[in-house]
Amino acid sequence: ADRRTLLKLTAGLLLSPLARGQAPFPEPPVLKSRDGLLQVRLKVAPTPLSLVGREARLWTYGGSFPGPTLRVRPGDAVRLELENLLPESTNLHWHGLPISPKVDDPFLEIPSKETWSYAFTVPQDLAGTFWYHPHLHGRVAPQLFAGLAGAIVVESPVDGIPELREAEEHLLVLKDLELASGRPATHTPMDWINGKEGNLLLVNGASRPTLRATKATLRLRLLNASNARFYRLQLEGHPLYLIASDGGFLEEPYEVPELLLAPGERAEVLVRFQKEGAFRLLALPYDRGVHMMGGMEHMGHGGMSMGTSPSGPQTLLTLVAPPRPKPLPLPKALAKLPALNPNQARVTRRITFTEDMMAGKFFINGQAFDHLRVDFQGRAGDLEVWEVDNQGDMDHPFHLHTHPFQVLSVNGKPLPYRALKDVVNLKAKEVVRLLVPLRNLPGKTVFHCHIVEHEDRGMMGVLEVG
Ligand code: C2O
Ligand code: CU
Repeated sequence: ADRRTLLKLTAGLLLSPLARGQAPFPEPPVLKSRDGLLQVRLKVAPTPLSLVGREARLWTYGGSFPGPTLRVRPGDAVRLELENLLPESTNLHWHGLPISPKVDDPFLEIPSKETWSYAFTVPQDLAGTFWYHPHLHGRVAPQLFAGLAGAIVVESPVDGIPELREAEEHLLVLKDLELASGRPATHTPMDWINGKEGNLLLVNGASRPTLRATKATLRLRLLNASNARFYRLQLEGHPLYLIASDGGFLEEPYEVPELLLAPGERAEVLVRFQKEGAFRLLALPYDRGVHMMGGMEHMGHGGMSMGTSPSGPQTLLTLVAPPRPKPLPLPKALAKLPALNPNQARVTRRITFTEDMMAGKFFINGQAFDHLRVDFQGRAGDLEVWEVDNQGDMDHPFHLHTHPFQVLSVNGKPLPYRALKDVVNLKAKEVVRLLVPLRNLPGKTVFHCHIVEHEDRGMMGVLEVG
């Protein structure tokens, strides 16, 4: 099949300033802080709901899929009681928020029928798109695949930036799913190696919805809450303007023809419509090096069976160079970091990813995760340079809790923009260097591959900051 045909096979979201009909664009319910406090009681439970027009039974937070969006501001207090009505233990991870690992505790286990209270203050110096999901080692993959994920938006003032102030904002939670008799499909042995992908590509729980924009500029918050699927996103006839990464704004919009979102990653993009029409947001095929051994069960991967293309005319667009808006407010934590030459920086930690396909195991520095072992000891306030080396044959998105970092280089090449990240994808044989300012958040935290099956199967380590 040529590239055009592949494009047509991919599923997409229709973005249109005046589109008609089809499934309306849904957004998860929003729980907003009031007077500096967000107080919620969230049930995590098996939930009957209707999905792509069928009856399904997923596991949800607060009864919705995806879970409710928690919308807060820097400095807000968060009190969240999690009531576990699942038939098994779980816990909750505040992905990307630099908060104490004593609160965001990856070792915590909340047994079935029990309730746990999370309490913390949203850090002052950070804004962006984050998320929450279970983090019980060994069970993350099935629980996430069953539906357990929700977004966290930390709002930042955009008063000084007219284009952002006037933009229409939407959240897009990208999550794939596969149903078997109305239930989330269970993991096959091959899924535990490649990471599980589903045949339904859902945007906020809907298949190919239509978003009818009322303004010429859209600000889209994108979250890849999938277990293992990568989204190589392209908007027909439009460049995307990347304005924020995992941990907040870039200095200025960065024009990208397409955008790759690895599992766990977030991005904010501006869409600047120059013309009326309906434009599809496409998920292009992406080769992440999945292991091909063991039969045909993985044939759904890589974009060949993502459903049929939406019918109707495609409108193409003339590219017009946009005016440069005012500088964006760069996160303070990022602005404070020194400019380092990535190739001269002294590396303070080395991490290697390796795979043992036959055993279905995944390692960091040759070892499988052990919650009793401390892999790295660090000191609060230290500025570290980590080198992560993917010696495997598949992509592995690296994620570090508690201490957001800056990507200095990929294979020795400096990144063209500065961004505060907590997930960075490594293609096979890629090496990245990260500038990691250790925050004053002492305690044991973890770093791992965000293909959660790999995390469950050992690709995680412990960092203790004292
Ligand atoms: Cu979103 Cu440790 O993960
Ligand atoms: Cu991995």
